[in-house]
Amino acid sequence: MRLCTIPGDGIGPEVIAAALEVLRSILPTIEVVEAAAGWGTFQATGVALPAETLAAARGADAVLFGAVGSPSHPVPGYRSPIVALRRELDLYANIRPTVALPIPLGGYAATPCDLVVVRENTEDLYAGRERWEEADRVAIAERVISRYASERIVRSAFNLARQRVEAHTRQAKVTIVHKANVLRLTDGLFRTTALEVAQDFPDIGVEELLVDTAAMHLARTPERFDVIVTTNMFGDILSDIACIHGGGLGLASSANIGPQHALFEPVHGAAPDIAGRGIANPLATVGCLAMLMAQRTAVIPNGAHYATQLRGAIAHILRYGPHTPDLGGTATTQQVTAAVIHYVNQ
Ligand code: NAI
Ligand code: MG
Repeated sequence: MRLCTIPGDGIGPEVIAAALEVLRSILPTIEVVEAAAGWGTFQATGVALPAETLAAARGADAVLFGAVGSPSHPVPGYRSPIVALRRELDLYANIRPTVALPIPLGGYAATPCDLVVVRENTEDLYAGRERWEEADRVAIAERVISRYASERIVRSAFNLARQRVEAHTRQAKVTIVHKANVLRLTDGLFRTTALEVAQDFPDIGVEELLVDTAAMHLARTPERFDVIVTTNMFGDILSDIACIHGGGLGLASSANIGPQHALFEPVHGAAPDIAGRGIANPLATVGCLAMLMAQRTAVIPNGAHYATQLRGAIAHILRYGPHTPDLGGTATTQQVTAAVIHYVNQ
């Protein structure tokens, strides 16, 4: 098993170092290739996603990505490397699960829920087709929605719902989220394609919601959801709402899956407000390891077992500590990492 790590900026290197310590305690012989990307890399070399990094990611069995800090103002030549990686590696399915906290923590309630946001990862407004029209002084972004991408993301959502029935023995449901009442052509295409795909899955419940209504329900009654499938930007926003019910960004993990490659990353960003202080919560990235283990069983023979152990460690630490400040505690990244290692190796 060869893993490519891309630590990135801010707390990215801190949480990746923590996850690697955990990983090496389970799989001491794992081959790790570290590659550079992000704002720091851009400032040093003029390139945010070097060709060697892309090659290392392509050559690995899986990629573990930390976070990159992208400036909000336009910088000539700079594009977010994670958005580029998702497209270059054709990681079309962004899988973002949320599981309820076992107890209220750090101001987060323990609302019962167990849901997954499946976000299309290659097109929509994030296709990067933006332009400036000087004559009218207007900035325009093109929203790209294809039948091909809509069909494959919705198909993965329904397949995931089916797998979850096997694991959870409960009524499976896919909620199709769109804004087809306003975005008639783009989301109209996503909606009709999704409803067509749904017909191939008569065993799975299906509903559709407009994105604003979905946001309200997701904030208030997350337990009504199972699998949510939606376009790129709606999925980006909805998954951050969902993660409130799982203890916030310090606990939100995600997988980016394509036909050939898989990249795992915490949902959070570079967190410049806490970077360098040793207090970033490493559990989102440990959760990424669990997703990696469960996904890559072809290259990690005991992957499913390790995934269960890692999830057990997270649940145990949430209940009994130690907790980093985002969860109301005073523990450091290192202390939480040591607790994970202790749990999985006991
Ligand atoms: P952020 O996710 O970096 O931070 C939001 C808030 O959550 C901050 O208060 C931060 O301290 C807290 N937080 C995040 N992760 C945490 C952790 N593991 N433990 C404890 N607290 C944590 O989002 P923000 O501040 O909007 O963006 C900062 C930078 O990150 C920006 O440059 C942005 O472009 C980038 N970003 C990168 C992403 C990626 O690489 N995938 C995703 C989101 C943002
Ligand atoms: Mg986001």
